[in-house]
Amino acid sequence: MRNAARAVVAVLATTATLSFVVQPVQAHPQAKTLRSVAPRDLRIGTAVAGGGHHLDQPYPDPFTYDKPYRRVLAKEFNSVSPENQMKWEFIHPERNKYNFGPADAIVRFARQNGQVVRGHTLLWHSQNPAWLNEGTFTDAELRSILKKHIFTVVGRYKGKIQQWDVANEIFNENGEYRPENIWITRLGPGIVADAFRWAHQADPKAQLFLNDYGVEWPGVKVDAYEALAKQLLAQRVPLHGFASQAHLSMRYGAPDQLAGVLQRFDDLGLKTAITELDVRMDLPEGGVPTAEQLQTQASYYKTVLDACLAVDDCNSFTIWGFTDKYSWVPVFFPAEGAATVMWEDFGKKPAYYTLRDTLARARR
Ligand code: XIL
Repeated sequence: MRNAARAVVAVLATTATLSFVVQPVQAHPQAKTLRSVAPRDLRIGTAVAGGGHHLDQPYPDPFTYDKPYRRVLAKEFNSVSPENQMKWEFIHPERNKYNFGPADAIVRFARQNGQVVRGHTLLWHSQNPAWLNEGTFTDAELRSILKKHIFTVVGRYKGKIQQWDVANEIFNENGEYRPENIWITRLGPGIVADAFRWAHQADPKAQLFLNDYGVEWPGVKVDAYEALAKQLLAQRVPLHGFASQAHLSMRYGAPDQLAGVLQRFDDLGLKTAITELDVRMDLPEGGVPTAEQLQTQASYYKTVLDACLAVDDCNSFTIWGFTDKYSWVPVFFPAEGAATVMWEDFGKKPAYYTLRDTLARARR
């Protein structure tokens, strides 16, 4: 009896070992996903849908409840960015209350699926909680509120975040600091350097980024970032990267000078990244893009990926959601849509295949 039991255990153990060894080998040939074909030193990321505009939509939290969504998220990407779940209004809804649950869940998911996380964001003019916007704080209080927030949030995820968008959208199109930014307006532009220093103290291994849109073409906004980056580096502020969000519209043409822009920051010794790529278009009546529109969209996606691939230290390429089902675009840009690489049912658009082919070719 004892021996029989032992035999059963032995058989089970063999089966378990075999299936452990055999499974990945079988799974691999079909596993042609973005992350599996990409060059090894390039992370392929997406925003993780939840919070923000999703709260007003007639569906439950996508990341928590949409299983097919989670499967694609795990399979296709090896970097994830909380779309809203680490923003002030979401993670710090009251002065003395943090809401870490959703961000924790994303960080856990990432760890389970071999993904890195891009933290987003610490110093921004938008999506700040009412208690902050409407509070009557002295400058000293505001400064200590920011410092404490950065130490708390960055500290909580210490060692688990690859890159942080420390400062988001701090310049206007004319290259001046945005007056809506409460931190800069109240405390002066020096607060940007402090935010980087505090984030670095809280997590010395995280790569710290400036992040903005409208920097895909050269111009005064890019000049402002270049001047700021030089200044911060000269002051030995722990700035590690410059990122182009790359929210594109087919109304404005392809970003054919992006590689040149990224190269200017690479030349300063900074990393670069694409952090929020999507390509929106004016939808024809009926809402379905034409074949020609889909080709143009694919070519824009490719232009951005090519730009990143052309620059040495562009190691992170993130799209702002992968399915039209959850895209922010129709909510924020009336009449435009279809901006992501997959349809609502996760069917793949030409843009998806173009990205995958381009990644596969770059890996060889
Ligand atoms: C957007 C989110 O996608 C929406 O869900 C939210 O309602 C508003 O913000 N630049 C950024 C992102 O840095 O955080 C923004 O995300 C898009 C523009």
